[in-house]
Amino acid sequence: MKSGMGTLISSLICGAGLVAMTGGAIAQGNDQVTIEGTWLSKVTTSNPPPGVPPVFLSLSSHTRSGEVSEANTTSADRSVGLGEWTRTGNRQFERTPERLARGKYLVNGPAACFDCHSQVEKELDKLAPGEAPKFHDLGSGRVFFDDGKARLVVPNITPDVETGAGTWTDDQFARAIREGIGHDGRTLFPLMPYDDFRNLSDEDLASIIVYIRSLPPIRHEMAKSKIPFPLSRLINAAPQPLYKPVARNTSDKLSRGEYLSKIGHCINCHTPKDKSGKPLPGMQFAGGEQFGPDVVSANITPDPSGISYYDEQLFIKVMRTGHVGARPLHSPMPWWFFKNMNDDDLKELFAYLRTVKPIHHRVDNSETATQCKQCNGKHGDGEQNGSL
Ligand code: HEC
Ligand code: HEC
Repeated sequence: MKSGMGTLISSLICGAGLVAMTGGAIAQGNDQVTIEGTWLSKVTTSNPPPGVPPVFLSLSSHTRSGEVSEANTTSADRSVGLGEWTRTGNRQFERTPERLARGKYLVNGPAACFDCHSQVEKELDKLAPGEAPKFHDLGSGRVFFDDGKARLVVPNITPDVETGAGTWTDDQFARAIREGIGHDGRTLFPLMPYDDFRNLSDEDLASIIVYIRSLPPIRHEMAKSKIPFPLSRLINAAPQPLYKPVARNTSDKLSRGEYLSKIGHCINCHTPKDKSGKPLPGMQFAGGEQFGPDVVSANITPDPSGISYYDEQLFIKVMRTGHVGARPLHSPMPWWFFKNMNDDDLKELFAYLRTVKPIHHRVDNSETATQCKQCNGKHGDGEQNGSL
């Protein structure tokens, strides 16, 4: 391999539109490669193709370096700085009624697994604001997009032996959810929010797995994801191994609320990213992350341009109904799962959001999108914001 340094921008052409992937820097020596950056910053931003639903974006930046060889040009190869992944584990989680209940709650509430891992009657981006999707065959997965050249498939995670997860071990599940490596050793495409889920405590992870594995098996045959080169290789930089146990701080309500803001992807969707996909410093929860030409996430900090006027009751109502008063929320905001969160959790989440730094950043999806110097995106009221 020749040395070189460059920025790789790759894209998956999908139908009429473009699903943009951003690269970062890739430096190669004779047998050493360092990949730095973030590999998926925005999907369906300015020109969402038909059939591509709004998605979560779950990447922050990573640096990986390691040996490179001819063999590691596929995503299944672990040798690009990911030698760690060759380790295998044999975690097995005891099935207890407590875990089953907790897992059911997390999966159908804050973690929103079935938002992606289910079939839908109508793609999410076709929903009217405020309309809840109709899911069926929960857990059986769906094809996100497929244009013949590139395909992204959300796998069937029900215990069907032939088309689902019937033969996967608990350990393989655990690694996929928190660390981004599939049961077959492949790097999972980072639409799967493993970067958020790495915050799941060991006990919550076990609970999710115990519950998912109790689902009725559903037969749903789908082709495998086909991620084109070089993206297939770039995504190898996304997973990060976990070496230490992860605990949940349950001692006070703000810590519990903060935990929910992570595993509920709130911070991910509500923090705008820079060109390489890193969260913009100083913009935590300030909104502006783009989900479609006219849809960005809202500022949910306690600033007057955010949700300072919310009280606990209004927050709970928004999360349960997808409406702020008469205003319906656009579909990327998965309130239809958050509505299953119990009052205590919603209250703690709100209490935590009250304590985050207020950031002045005007965002209004009902106005025409204009350039914003603060988040570098284009959204309603964008012209009213100064630079960071
Ligand atoms: C935003 C969409 C999204 C959400 C939410 C999501 N997933 Fe995924 N998941 C994916 C995609 C996409 C893949 C496959 C990526 C690939 O094939 O490269 C995947 C892959 C997986 C895999 C690996 C399957 C294999 O072949 O080894 C498991 C296990 C999994 N998800 C479980 C979960 C669980 C459990 C949750 C909730 C805690 C969840 N996912 C939430 C999109 C999602
Ligand atoms: C997949 C991305 C996504 C996730 C995950 C997400 N949001 Fe949102 N959220 C959005 C978008 C986009 C909007 C803007 C919708 C609109 O303006 O119609 C929004 C709007 C909101 C609003 C309405 C603000 C207002 O008054 O305009 C609140 C409150 C909110 N989100 C809170 C949360 C919380 C709390 C979480 C985590 C539990 C969360 N969101 C997770 C994308 C997301």
